[in-house]
Amino acid sequence: MTGGGDCAGIDAVIRAIVKKATNDRHEVIGIRRGWAGLLEPDTLRLTYESVSESIATGGTLLLTSRTNPFKRENGPELVMKTVSSLGLDAVIAIGGEDTLGVAHRLTEYGLKAIGVPKTIDNDLSETDLTFGFDSAVNVAVEAIDRIRTTGMSHERVMVVEVMGRDAGWVATYAGIAGGAHCILVPEEQTDLASVCEVVMARKKRGQTFTLIVVAEGVQFLSKRNPDAAAQNVDEFGHLELGGVGHVLAGEIERRTGIETRAVVLGHLIRGGAPSAFDRVLSTRLGVAAVEAVEQGRSDVMVALQRNHVVKVGISDAIKPKKLDLELLSLGRMFSP
Ligand code: F6P
Repeated sequence: MTGGGDCAGIDAVIRAIVKKATNDRHEVIGIRRGWAGLLEPDTLRLTYESVSESIATGGTLLLTSRTNPFKRENGPELVMKTVSSLGLDAVIAIGGEDTLGVAHRLTEYGLKAIGVPKTIDNDLSETDLTFGFDSAVNVAVEAIDRIRTTGMSHERVMVVEVMGRDAGWVATYAGIAGGAHCILVPEEQTDLASVCEVVMARKKRGQTFTLIVVAEGVQFLSKRNPDAAAQNVDEFGHLELGGVGHVLAGEIERRTGIETRAVVLGHLIRGGAPSAFDRVLSTRLGVAAVEAVEQGRSDVMVALQRNHVVKVGISDAIKPKKLDLELLSLGRMFSP
């Protein structure tokens, strides 16, 4: 089952699960559309052949949703009823904090749950990386490289907005790899004055192009973000974000007088084929998830630690992983 925002590498995890499980003589049933597929049974039989070419596909062949059974009347009971009627020994939940949080809570209702860490945000604890993150960063960097050449030609400030509601991992990695002069993350309040100082300092040194990478969840010290009341909220209480880059670009142009443009990468970095790194990670995690089921484990997530795949408690894994501030400082070392 896959829940929450999709990312590259999900199908590669599903492929590994199905192939390993089929080799070990288990039957695998895909649950469609996240927890919704267990509230009202919606399944897909997965066979060795059906996942054969899934190593390189983007998205999720099982479809996804942000359905929260704990927000539905008798939701947990309905899920458990479906689990029992389908005769499932365990559910492998491929998801981030929200999906895995539900899996953890459902273990109190008797569910045997194994988690696989999936999110471009890379914000799950107890794992060095989540799959999907590397692919997303690679797409962002490719876009930044293109934005640099047009920005330089026009002597502009270019603001590149990437996803990251609460986590600045994508912005930090993409910023470092893309040679950004300014990286702005949700983990700290952004002072617009100091952003403009970077732009002006660069201009003074004859550098007429400035590249700013900003995470969508960034908060400004002195300016309100786009009207939160006008935004949609999902079943886990998250606001629909996107567009803060335009607010930032407008302010920079107004304050510095330098032409500024914003590009919102948004869902572009979540789609498409997984990187080679993510294909390998997804395969390792999928196989480990089946092994966890075979070992009779529950309430654990398979994780990557120091390049070894290990099992960690889901309750520890869903605590938000703090951004590595040393890495952020590295990204700011050559700025302006
Ligand atoms: O999955 C997490 C995430 O990628 C966040 O970074 C982002 O805010 C959110 O998904 C966007 O989700 P949606 O596809 O529902 O707009």
